[in-house]
Amino acid sequence: MCGIFGYINYLVDKDRKFILDTLVNGLSRLEYRGYDSAGLAVDGDKKNETFAFKEVGKVAKLKELIAEEKPDLTKTFDSHAGIAHTRWATHGPPSRLNCHPHRSDPNWDFAVVHNGIITNYKELKAFLQTKGHKFETETDTEAIAKLAKYIYDAQPDLSFVDLAKALIKELDGAFGLLLKSVHYPHAVIAARKGSPLVIGVKTAKKMKVDFVDVEYSDDAALPAEAASQTLALKKANNLLAPADKSLLHRSQSRAFFSDDGAPMPAEFFLSSDPSAIVEHTKKVLYLEDDDIAHIHEGVLNIHRLKKDDKSTTRAIQTLEIELQEIMKGEFDHFMQKEIFEQPESVVNAMRGRLDVASKTVTLGGLRQYITTIRRCRRLIFIACGTSYHSCMAVRGIFEELTEIPIAVELASDFLDRKAPVFRDDTCVFVSQSGETADSLMALRYCLERGALTVGIVNVVGSSISLLTHCGVHINAGPEIGVASTKAYTSQFVCMVMFALSLSEDRASKTKRREEIMEGLGKVSEQFKEVLKLNDSIKQLCEKFKNQKSLLLLGRGAQHATALEGALKIKEISYLHCEAVMSGELKHGVLALVDENLPIVMILTRDEIFAKSLNAYQQVIARKGRPIIICNQDDPEFPADKTDRIEVPAQVEGLQGLINVIPLQLMAYWLAVGEGLNVDFPRNLAKSVTVE
Ligand code: F6R
Repeated sequence: MCGIFGYINYLVDKDRKFILDTLVNGLSRLEYRGYDSAGLAVDGDKKNETFAFKEVGKVAKLKELIAEEKPDLTKTFDSHAGIAHTRWATHGPPSRLNCHPHRSDPNWDFAVVHNGIITNYKELKAFLQTKGHKFETETDTEAIAKLAKYIYDAQPDLSFVDLAKALIKELDGAFGLLLKSVHYPHAVIAARKGSPLVIGVKTAKKMKVDFVDVEYSDDAALPAEAASQTLALKKANNLLAPADKSLLHRSQSRAFFSDDGAPMPAEFFLSSDPSAIVEHTKKVLYLEDDDIAHIHEGVLNIHRLKKDDKSTTRAIQTLEIELQEIMKGEFDHFMQKEIFEQPESVVNAMRGRLDVASKTVTLGGLRQYITTIRRCRRLIFIACGTSYHSCMAVRGIFEELTEIPIAVELASDFLDRKAPVFRDDTCVFVSQSGETADSLMALRYCLERGALTVGIVNVVGSSISLLTHCGVHINAGPEIGVASTKAYTSQFVCMVMFALSLSEDRASKTKRREEIMEGLGKVSEQFKEVLKLNDSIKQLCEKFKNQKSLLLLGRGAQHATALEGALKIKEISYLHCEAVMSGELKHGVLALVDENLPIVMILTRDEIFAKSLNAYQQVIARKGRPIIICNQDDPEFPADKTDRIEVPAQVEGLQGLINVIPLQLMAYWLAVGEGLNVDFPRNLAKSVTVE
């Protein structure tokens, strides 16, 4: 939720058009993270001037606004710092005022873009108001900009880094932020605590550095009065005491110098995720929590907020994603592209891990811990939304293969209940983004209680992947569509491989394990077959035109499929859709059924097929005309009497992988049929980094 983008150059002549286009383009790559308003701040025409543009709606609207306001696009800058933001409102409704960047004062002395939540902003705001600061928005972010100015006014000779340290020490909550100021021209501060930030570096010549040193300064290096400033603020005390600059520890860290030792022309791209950077450079470094990066005059320094035992370097890594992976290509929507990528993404999840011929599964990221996990008291799967459904979908296969008690928990509810967790529990965190706040908080909760934690995550370098003891990357590639599709099937496959690894030592399960591995080997081809149903599913969706509600019935593992299908339909087509465990139909929901209510039933053959048929009979007896998802040529449902979506048969436990694809397509075509923007459903964002 919310996307941050920044562009800083040094000794690279660029005109304002280039800078604005780069920022706007960066935002459009991040738009899937939030899209109710967007804004940016760049250097003005005069020294000490900032131009800011903010607009409600999508990034395209911001672009229109900039065109209308006609800034001088030809003005060139050899050093420049610009920051930008696309928002998903949490504090304050979408409006020009509430949209980022936020300013410290009408002159824009300090400009901030921010992702996450400042939990003590009310306290900060109350304090700053007593100091005469006038707030103009309902956001938590504004307090950051105003606090920066407050600190600056008290100590105008502070360096930008020292000011940032004093500022960030005051902020509670989880955030990623960029700060720019007319007092520190052409420089940007980037800081992270719980919300990801990645920095791309592009130099004029080939880069030689492969890491950036981290500067460890500690509070002891600060003069007593300066160190007490944080306390002073919390107590709503007096103005900050001036710092003795000679005592401040100065950074000696890594710059991008050319062979002759002169600073090299350089460009820096800051972003909440690498998809906005990859088209400019593949050389990136990820900030860690409590890092404060300062970029100025071609130099990138990373400072720690406080002395600790974290590593002293940040490696410069090479991004492995390609630009085309984050482009729509021949498809109309990212969601459609991602649905159609699944034959390939499931193969990527299994590549180098599953060998069907030799019947082996190797999950390198779990190897060290697999024996410990086998001995655990419980496996607790914790996730939200679609990721939670994928856990539900594999619960049966885990219970069957491992015989370990399994619990599947919604992260928010797990935390609300303060559920008991023990040192001998293994807690598995499943998340596409690896940044979902509820899941992340549940992870910290389990870590505090000494449990072993496992991450099943798509985004490499994300908080969940960094904080868990071990894990599996699902390798689905960037998922941009807000409605998760390929991540679900890749999570499913990775968790089945996890269950296979855990049961490797069980002779009694050998046959079944082999059957499942063979089944996994067929998934990709079967996906291709199901995707051929695209046109017929599109046609079938006509039946749901102008309907108000839809029931989706499934039993056993197919209840998870129904839950996932219903979530997809709700979130992008806004049609109310309820998933019902078909065994529960007769306990109440049957009262809804008549000849008018649209119903989809998942009736593929499995061990409990006979029981699922009972629900079918109950619906038919009430004149219901359900659409059936069944196996190919199933004689139970004659084609002339029923609308059928026929899917290939899979082994017990894997059928849900196949069955979910028609439901994803159905959700897609229902939304397209309503003329809705599939990739940007209202009120939603891709990565939910607030509680
Ligand atoms: C639905 C969807 C959400 C996410 C949920 C968890 O299509 O995408 O329900 O699954 O917000 O997100 P992650 O998996 O990133 O933790």
